[in-house]
Amino acid sequence: MDAIALLNLRQWLANYCRKFHSANDRDHRNIVLKESHTYHVAANMLTLSQTLLRNRNKIMIAEAIGLLHDIGRFPQYAQYKTFRDSISVNHGRLGTEVIRNERVLSDLPDREREIITNAVRFHNAFAVPDGLDAETIFFLKLIRDADKLDIWRVFAEYHERDNSERESAAGLGLPDSPGFTDAVVACLAEKRLATLSLLKTLHDFSIMQLTWMYDLNFPASFRLAKEQGHIERIIATLPHTNHIEEAIFVLRQYMKEKEGGESFH
Ligand SMILES: [Fe+2]
Repeated sequence: MDAIALLNLRQWLANYCRKFHSANDRDHRNIVLKESHTYHVAANMLTLSQTLLRNRNKIMIAEAIGLLHDIGRFPQYAQYKTFRDSISVNHGRLGTEVIRNERVLSDLPDREREIITNAVRFHNAFAVPDGLDAETIFFLKLIRDADKLDIWRVFAEYHERDNSERESAAGLGLPDSPGFTDAVVACLAEKRLATLSLLKTLHDFSIMQLTWMYDLNFPASFRLAKEQGHIERIIATLPHTNHIEEAIFVLRQYMKEKEGGESFH
C-alpha cells in the first residue's frame, strides 16, 4: 500500500459515508457517530503503528484497516436501524462484503487485501480466532485495541451529553437508571470480559466497556488509554459503591502494570 492508494481510500470512504447521510435527525446522528469513530480509529491506528512498526507500507496498511474496520456499520444501520449485531447482522462480516462488492481494495496486492479484509472481518469477534497467520494476528490485535480506545471516547462523550442530544443507537437501548448488575462488576474485579447478555442498565454497559481493558494487547495501547483519559471520564459516571470502588482499584492496578511493557513488536 502506498500514499496514493491510501488517499484514494480516504476519498472513496468519504463518498461512501455521504450516501448514508439522512434528513432524519436521529438517523443522521447515528451515521455521523460512526463516521467520526472511523476517523478517530484510523488516527489511533496511525499512532499505535508508528510506535510498533518501522515499515511505512505496513503503517499505511494499519491506517487502512482503521478506515475500513466499521464500513459494515453503514449498510447495517441503513437496513436495520440498529448497531446491535445480535438482532441484525455481524458488521465485521458485512464490512468484508462491502470491500468485495465495491472493489475497494482491488488495486492492492492479494496479500495486503487479505490482511485488511481479515482484520475487518474479525475486529469485533469476542476473541482473536485460531488459524490466522502471525502478521494478520498482529494487525487484528492492533485494530481491536484502536477500536476500543475510541469506543471509550464515544461513550465518555455520550454520558456527558443531554439525553436529547445522544445518539440513540450508541447506548444499545439500555435504560439510564441508577442501578447496576453485580455479575458485571464481578467481571471487572476478576479481570474478565463481561458479555452483552449480562447487561441490564447503562451503568452495566459502562462497566462492561471498562472490562475491555483486559483484552488490550499492546503496552502502547495502555499508554494511549491513559493519555486520552476517557477511562477516567467513564469511571466518573459510575455510582461509588464499595463493590464498584474495589473493582476500579483492580482495573487501575492492571493498567499501571501493563503500560510499562516493551514497545516494539
Ligand atoms: Fe466495529
